[in-house]
Amino acid sequence: MEKNCSGACESPSHQHKELSRKALLSGLAAVLSGIGLTTLSTTAAVAAKRYKVTLASKVPVGSAKTFTVAGRSILITQPRSGVFRAFRNTCTHQGAPLGTQKLNSGSLMCNQHGATFDANSGAVKGGPAMRPLTKYTASRSGTYIYVSI
Ligand code: FES
Repeated sequence: MEKNCSGACESPSHQHKELSRKALLSGLAAVLSGIGLTTLSTTAAVAAKRYKVTLASKVPVGSAKTFTVAGRSILITQPRSGVFRAFRNTCTHQGAPLGTQKLNSGSLMCNQHGATFDANSGAVKGGPAMRPLTKYTASRSGTYIYVSI
């Protein structure tokens, strides 16, 4: 007959079973899921705060304008009519501010070394930058543009 014990006994009448690593991790995952710790990243994303930034009319089609939101310099673009995007106002090459500018074929340009970025997605269109711009969620509600940071 098999006897259950804590594994600390020294009885020769039965064998002690050790928890396998897989069983231990599976149990740990179930406990974390049960207390909601597996959704921390989702919770953090939801925690972004939405700020009313400017009138939509202040960002004409084909332009990028700078604003300070929650102490951060951001760029809001309107690459196509009614489409607003927001980015961190920092070039990913060496950190120069991109600044207020007129879009050139839908692109933002860094005046420091000439990197270009897609004003809709923030993707690099031309070097020397290698990484896309940091993007924030921008939306229009009524006559105002809101940005979530
Ligand atoms: S800092 Fe923008 S291209 Fe170098």
